Amino acid sequence: MQVVRRKTPTGRVAYVDGRYVPHASASVHVEDRGLQFADSVYEVCAVNNGLLMDEQGHLDRLERSLRELSMDMPMRREALKAVMRETLRRNRLKDGLLYLQVTRGAHRRDHLIPKGVRSSIIITARSIDPAGYDKKRVDGIVVATFPDIRWGRCDIKTTGLLPNVLAKTRARQAGAYEAWLVDDKGFVTEGSSTNAWIVTGDNVLVTRDLKSNILAGVTRAGVMAALTRAGVNAVEERAFTRDEAYAAREAFLTSASGGVIPVVRIDERKIGEGKPGPMAARVHSLYRELSLAEALGSRPSS
Ligand code: PDD
Repeated sequence: MQVVRRKTPTGRVAYVDGRYVPHASASVHVEDRGLQFADSVYEVCAVNNGLLMDEQGHLDRLERSLRELSMDMPMRREALKAVMRETLRRNRLKDGLLYLQVTRGAHRRDHLIPKGVRSSIIITARSIDPAGYDKKRVDGIVVATFPDIRWGRCDIKTTGLLPNVLAKTRARQAGAYEAWLVDDKGFVTEGSSTNAWIVTGDNVLVTRDLKSNILAGVTRAGVMAALTRAGVNAVEERAFTRDEAYAAREAFLTSASGGVIPVVRIDERKIGEGKPGPMAARVHSLYRELSLAEALGSRPSS
């Protein structure tokens, strides 16, 4: 008997504007402003063992992004949380990602933001084998740097991601896993879909301060909280140059999808010994412990 492999596993379900629909046939209107103008915002939440990680941080950031663009929250937070859980349940998701996008809605194409249009909401879920990221934590990953050509409001998590998409693709073509974006003064802003961190020769953790030129990563915030809780105070929120990154003892990146991932090379420069360092591993386990405990609704015992 011939085995038919489907790209979309049977039973995958998406939520679109009040309905749970088969993923393969889920769609939005051709004049949806998210499609035409990237007039939409999104969040990506990790799911570990069926638990939504850092849910509050992601929903807080979603509300902020919407507020900054004068868009309405499509439903109350508690209702949204229920829909997110139901989407996980219907997809039988254990480990993977929940993707949530709110668009300004569908309207006859016009640059002017229309009044009285109902926002649209899309939620999808995708399973990911955690072994892939665990292997990256063992091997480390390579980063390639590119000029940051994005707009001035990278703090808003919009789907206007073309510069990020191009940078990530060029990084992969160069044999790297992630792109680090560098501003015109030579300072690293962040990764194409991750926040960037280095560890200096004095063992100080450095990551860029939060302004409009980077996204306030929820994982970044979780890492900060876990470090504070563990009494690690050698943390600086400031810009660092690409040269400082080349000379760093360690480097790593953070994101909801991958957690904390060590960087072993940036462009042609080996970082530290050229293998994952102890600080990245420690940061990963501190973050993981705290975020899991929070997802379970309890704080870990100190
Ligand atoms: N990316 N910086 C950028 C530009 C990002 O797109 C992301 C998230 C991050 C990390 O943020 P967080 O820790 O909240 O995931 C930083 C998601 C995962 C994505 O686009 O897939």
